[in-house]
Amino acid sequence: MKPTVLVIDDDESLLTTYKSILKPDFEPLLLRDSSGLAAALAGQPVDLVLLDLMMPGRDGLALLPEIKAFDRQLPVIMVTALHDIKLAVKAIKLGADDYLTKPFEAEALLTTLDQVLQRRLLVRENIYLKQVLAEKGYQWDLIGRSAPALKVFALIEKAARVPSTVLITGESGTGKELVAHAIHKSSPRADKPFVVVNCAALPESLIEAELFGHEKGAFTGALERREGKFELADGGTLFLDEIGCLPLNLQTRLLRVLQDSSIERIGSRQPVRVDVRVIAATNLPLEAAARRGEFREDLFYRLNVVRFELAPLRERQADIPLYAEYFINKYAREFNKKLKGLTPEALALLTGYAWPGNVRELQNLMERIVVLTDQQEYVQAEDIPLEAASRNLVQEGLKEALVDFERRYIKNALAAAGGNQTRAAELLNIHRTTLVSKMEQLGLK
Ligand SMILES: Nc1ncnc2c1ncn2[C@@H]1O[C@H](COP(=O)(O)OP(=O)(O)OP(=O)(O)O)[C@@H](O)[C@H]1O
Ligand SMILES: [Mg+2]
Repeated sequence: MKPTVLVIDDDESLLTTYKSILKPDFEPLLLRDSSGLAAALAGQPVDLVLLDLMMPGRDGLALLPEIKAFDRQLPVIMVTALHDIKLAVKAIKLGADDYLTKPFEAEALLTTLDQVLQRRLLVRENIYLKQVLAEKGYQWDLIGRSAPALKVFALIEKAARVPSTVLITGESGTGKELVAHAIHKSSPRADKPFVVVNCAALPESLIEAELFGHEKGAFTGALERREGKFELADGGTLFLDEIGCLPLNLQTRLLRVLQDSSIERIGSRQPVRVDVRVIAATNLPLEAAARRGEFREDLFYRLNVVRFELAPLRERQADIPLYAEYFINKYAREFNKKLKGLTPEALALLTGYAWPGNVRELQNLMERIVVLTDQQEYVQAEDIPLEAASRNLVQEGLKEALVDFERRYIKNALAAAGGNQTRAAELLNIHRTTLVSKMEQLGLK
C-alpha cells in the first residue's frame, strides 16, 4: 500500500507537479486551500502532509496547529519560498517535522518525504521496542536501538563467551562500566564476583596495595594481612576503570600478572594463583599515550584483545528518544509522577543537543525534569532546562544549515549557468569575485 500524502498549496500548477512527482510511490491527495482540510483528514488515513507556508486566507502556520491537534504524530513538511527561512524555523518550533524550500527538485522532495516517514517509523519502533523490553525485563540494563548500540550488544555476547581481556574506550558517560558489567553477567563467571577498581581515584602508593594486597607489616600502617582486589575477584571479573591513569611501574606489574595469572602480595615473595578475567576501561586515547611512551605499548596490546569503542551519544541520535522515554518512565515510577513521555518538540530539542556528558547527562536531566514536573503527562520543550549550551547549539545548527543551503544554492546556479562563473554570478545577482570567494569558502572549487 502506498503512503497517502496530503498536499495543501494554492498554486494550481505546482499541485500538478506534486501529483506527477508523487504518483509513482505515493497516493497524492491535493487541496487548494484549507476549506477541505478537516474532511480530508477525517476521510481517509493520511500518512504525511505537505503544507505550503504562504497562502491567501489561512496560511500554513495557521493550519499547522490544526493538523497537529487532529493527530499529534502526523508528520508535516512545510514548503516555503527561499526568503521564508525564519518562518520555516518558526514552523519547526511549532511542530513541523521538516521543511522544503521552493523551487525544489523532485529528488529533494522524495528524499525529504522518505526521511520524515523513516523517522516516523522509528518513533513507532521505539514504542514497540519499549514494550518488548518491558516484557522481557531490560537485558543487562543496557538499552539502545541505533546501529552502533546493536553492534555493542552483539559484541558483548561474543566477549562473554571467551576469557580474553577486554578494553573499553569511550567518552565519559557512554556506558563503559555498564558494558563491563554486562559482559560479566553474560559470561560463565556471572555468579562469581565483579570487582571494580578505579585507578584514578587512588594515589599511586595505595593502588598497588589495593590491587595486589599486602602482608602484615609490609609497610607502615599495614597492621594485618589484606587481600587485594585480584584475589577478591578470583573466579570472576576485575574491572580496571580509568586504566589510562595507572602509573607506569604498576603497568609493568599488571602486565606480569596478566601473563602469569598469579600475583604477589606486597611484602611477600609467595605467588598466589588467581583466575581473573580483566576488563579495562578508559576515556583517554590510549593508543596516543602508548606512542608518547606514557602507557606501555605491550600492556596496551595485552588489554586490547577484545575492543569496545563506545560511540558518543551525539553520534547515535536514534538512541536519544529511547533513553529519554526510558529514563522518564523509570523516574516517574520511582517518584510516583504521572509523566508518560515527551512531546515531539521536546524530543526534537533533546535530539539536537550535543550531550557532552553522554547518557549520564541525559539520565540526570530526565531525573531532574521528573522531580520538577507536577500534574502533567508529557514533558514539553519548555520544561527542558538545556540553558546556555543548547542555545549555542541551536545557533550553531542554524549556521550550519545556512552554509549548507548557500552551498546548494550556488551549486544550482552554477549548474544552471553551465559552469560559467560570470553567468552564475549574474543569476545570483552578486559580483563575480564575490562568487569566487564564496566558492572557495564553501569548498566548491
Ligand atoms: N546503553 C545504556 N543504557 C542505559 N543506561 C545507560 C547506557 N549507557 C549508559 N547508561 C547510564 O549512564 C550512566 C553512565 O554510565 P557508565 O557509568 O557506565 O559510563 P562510563 O562510560 O563508565 O562513564 P565514565 O567514563 O564517566 O566513568 C549510568 O548511570 C548508566 O546507567
Ligand atoms: Mg565509568
